[in-house]
Amino acid sequence: MRFFVETYGCQMNVADSEMVTSMLIQAGHTPATNIDDAQLIVFNTCSVREHAEQRVLGRIANEKHRKQQNPDLKIAVVGCMAQRMGKRLMELESGVDFVFGVDQYDKLAEILANDSPIQNHWTEMDNEQVYHGILPTRLNRHCGFVTVMRGCDNFCSYCIVPYVRGRERSRPASDIVKEVEEATLEGFRDITLLGQNVNSYQNEGMDFASLLRELNQIDPLWRLRFVTSHPKDLSDNLIQTMADCDKICEHIHLPMQSGDDDVLFRMNRGYGSRHYYDLITRLRTAIPDIALTTDVLVGFPGETERQFENTLELMRQIQFDYAFCFKYSPREGTAAAKSTDQIPEELRLERLQKTIDLQREITLHKFRSQIGKRVEVYVEDFSRKSHEQVSGKTRDFKIAVLSGTSDQIGSLVEAKVIDATAGTLICL
Ligand code: SAH
Ligand code: SF4
Ligand code: F3S
Repeated sequence: MRFFVETYGCQMNVADSEMVTSMLIQAGHTPATNIDDAQLIVFNTCSVREHAEQRVLGRIANEKHRKQQNPDLKIAVVGCMAQRMGKRLMELESGVDFVFGVDQYDKLAEILANDSPIQNHWTEMDNEQVYHGILPTRLNRHCGFVTVMRGCDNFCSYCIVPYVRGRERSRPASDIVKEVEEATLEGFRDITLLGQNVNSYQNEGMDFASLLRELNQIDPLWRLRFVTSHPKDLSDNLIQTMADCDKICEHIHLPMQSGDDDVLFRMNRGYGSRHYYDLITRLRTAIPDIALTTDVLVGFPGETERQFENTLELMRQIQFDYAFCFKYSPREGTAAAKSTDQIPEELRLERLQKTIDLQREITLHKFRSQIGKRVEVYVEDFSRKSHEQVSGKTRDFKIAVLSGTSDQIGSLVEAKVIDATAGTLICL
């Protein structure tokens, strides 16, 4: 069968789609060049916010006409929504044929081979599942993801992830080292380690800092990154490791969520604003040029105007390079969704807009402060606008565009920043 995978959500889903692709190829199926050519469409879905789910449901409904034209077309839904909604997805008019939860991907190929499955939804959770021995088929040719852990045990009160992804489990370090080595043999030079909370990685006595030190020795590798860090688990030892290891990039994504202690407490985040600010100071002391990115969640139940202002104030104090800003979306089954103190939608939207506007200003200032500096760009592709320009990323995770030619793709280029927008460095 020719299959096409469409991915929504976080990098974990991107990595899972690459793994599912490998599994399907191993079973004798072939990737379709585009969706129109596919006999099987796999939607890998996200449940983190209502909006994410609505988008996918809309997409699936859109495929109805395709099914009418081609009755043999099969649609599978996998990922967090498949886990959360299970059988309910099968009841949609749009004709979903299969549903696979996040721990059931190893059944996919076998079930598809069977023409008349007795059952068509597999959503059992398996808290031991780490998909041992499956090498992903990576889509990007230069930057690769390597999953180091699955699941999450933190139960932040707004978040659905622990319910759909199950308990936290770390992959054996030897498997991770092997996978990074194999990726470098395929030409990957920039690897991002993935987990919902990589700082609590723990396997066979190895913690995250020791794993990083080991990976730092893999020589063909140029750049090592990781997401996501959790402020309650980011240790001094890890900060020192980042400072010591030459391949670890000068960037950390450290979700702050809120700048208010009461809100952070009610979010069950396990830290206060002082602790967060101290961490930033320690990071900047150990790694002076470190770029900082974050997630900010506004409109959490009961958030007062004053508490929201505390978030804006902490953002002003810290001056993040970039922030992903979200408005709170109640998720069925989570603690915060039960609160009777929900903030009206308009107010949530208003706060979101204020947060975005503030950050845009800070980001522009941050990016413009790079003008005149020399940066190292890992060239990944032509730029989106023109084939006379190439684009890539700096070590500190900023997109850079420069005039160049195709032979630079896949190499490191030294460039000088001559201009900047709130999102791109223009280089020479
Ligand atoms: N494990 C990571 C990522 C979790 S999901 C972490 O802890 O940071 C990514 C981001 O989505 C979160 O950081 C949070 O800001 C946002 N998010 C999670 N649940 C949400 C919800 N119910 N409504 C709005 N945003 C949410
Ligand atoms: Fe969700 Fe919190 Fe886990 Fe992140 S750490 S995935 S926000 S429960
Ligand atoms: Fe979404 Fe699942 Fe990732 S809910 S954010 S795809 S872990």
